[in-house]
Amino acid sequence: MRSSMRRVTTMTFSFLLQSSPPLPPVLPKPLLSHEHRYSLSSILPLLTQRSRLRTLSTKSIPIMQDSTSVSYLSQREAAEIDETLMGPLGFSVDQLMELAGLSVATSVAEVYKPSEYSRVLAICGPGNNGGDGLVAARHLHHFGYKPSICYPKRTPKSLYTGLVTQLESLSVPFVSVDDLPEDLSKDFDVIIDAIFGFSFHGAPRPPFDDIIRRLLSLQKRPVIVSVDIPSGWHVEEGDNEGGGIKPDMLVSLTAPKLCAKRFCGPHHFLGGRFVPPSVAEKYKLELPSYPGTSMCVRIGKPPKVDISAMRVNYVSPELLEDQVESYPILQFRKWFDEAVAAGLRETNAMALSTTNKDRKPSSRMVLLKGFDENGFVWFTNYESKKGSDLSENPFAALLFYWEDMNRQVRIEGAVERISEEESETYYHSRPRGSQIGAIVSKQSSVVSGRHVLYDEYEELTKKYSDGSVIPKPKNWGGFRLKPNLFEFWQGQPSRLHDRLQYSLQEGNPAWIIRRLAP
Ligand SMILES: Cc1cc2nc3c(=O)[nH]c(=O)nc-3n(C[C@H](O)[C@H](O)[C@H](O)COP(=O)(O)O)c2cc1C
Repeated sequence: MRSSMRRVTTMTFSFLLQSSPPLPPVLPKPLLSHEHRYSLSSILPLLTQRSRLRTLSTKSIPIMQDSTSVSYLSQREAAEIDETLMGPLGFSVDQLMELAGLSVATSVAEVYKPSEYSRVLAICGPGNNGGDGLVAARHLHHFGYKPSICYPKRTPKSLYTGLVTQLESLSVPFVSVDDLPEDLSKDFDVIIDAIFGFSFHGAPRPPFDDIIRRLLSLQKRPVIVSVDIPSGWHVEEGDNEGGGIKPDMLVSLTAPKLCAKRFCGPHHFLGGRFVPPSVAEKYKLELPSYPGTSMCVRIGKPPKVDISAMRVNYVSPELLEDQVESYPILQFRKWFDEAVAAGLRETNAMALSTTNKDRKPSSRMVLLKGFDENGFVWFTNYESKKGSDLSENPFAALLFYWEDMNRQVRIEGAVERISEEESETYYHSRPRGSQIGAIVSKQSSVVSGRHVLYDEYEELTKKYSDGSVIPKPKNWGGFRLKPNLFEFWQGQPSRLHDRLQYSLQEGNPAWIIRRLAP
């Protein structure tokens, strides 16, 4: 029914002005966290039985990794810390397991997006490491992955049976070892190795020995994520006998154990953002700080990548002509709202491209501060580079890229300054620090050092400390781009992306919708 070209008469959307909600607050990304809870008494006999362990240092070893000093824990220290957390510090096993599993799930989600790595197999051992795997699988289910569980040696304690019930209530399948395919690469994108934790000793026993053998024989896919200790490794010495698995990601919990120094995979993360200062001080723990509200943090350098080989195979719902809104501003509102609802960070960040009188282009990010049928508004310094470009050539392009949704929106059109009144209103709605910042920054001019900005900022902060009105600088205000072209791009497999362009043609008030080749 719908032809590849559509004409829609323009109309006024004055209701948008009233009904457009204020821009939403930026939502934090999901985060990550830690673990461990083996009684010291269960570990100590091992330590004393094994002279090999006794000869190892029981001090945490700080080493420099990518300018971050990280401590590594011995087996004994790890056990002691768990004892302390669950004794005088009042944590319960369930709590630590929940945080550990969440750390693992969020670390996985940092690197392996569900759009590409949805089929997860969590292989869970009988102890706490296995419990972490069960919790991680539950969180991954809620993050949009499709986990399956292999849990051959179930622990009858209520903590574990509860975790199993929770997974069953989400219809997460449990697979027996016999039903696992010999070649795990066919059915899974990610394997979580939650078989043995830091209290492990000796050689892996059936059926885990066979599972580890299958993990060792894997070629490229799936990726393996080990929880705290790669299975088959010695907790302090690493894969000293060569029979352990070689994970792509290691999620250390609380602090890396000594074996983690031997980890050579591309992704080492730390979870367990609950270590109180008293524990950190006692064990002289040096750990990287967690960014923002995140429950996990990368340790060491991100892996070196072959840029030419970097590509994502997009999988998204189709963008079809008969499903999009007739008016591009409504389609933009729809996608913008969906991006906000998906929790994307800085949904309103957009690249603004301008050109000067010599037709030389220039791009930078700015924040969209409002949009309606009259256009897209952002604020800046009129004497900045972009301000100068726009006075020489009042046309610009805006670009939004919402990565997690495989979506891009291009918008082009003529630009004009908004009214002084609108700029005044917005300026005074900003935090006072930002208002002072706008006075201090002679944007795009050369500054002799950071102190110049700080000194003036401090001076003005003192000046306005009485709460009096901070006047808006004359050279600060908003621009509005009035679109004559939109393009909505949705990534699709095999580079057969959807591109729907809405354009206005000179002297014609109708929006034309056309599909462009990807
Ligand atoms: C996410 C993000 C948002 C930004 N938002 C604005 C903004 O709203 N207004 C602005 O003037 N600069 C903003 N900036 C800084 C600009 O990118 C740029 O550095 C500055 O405006 C000077 O650009 P110009 O010299 O090309 O004029 C933002 C930067 C980033 C990374």
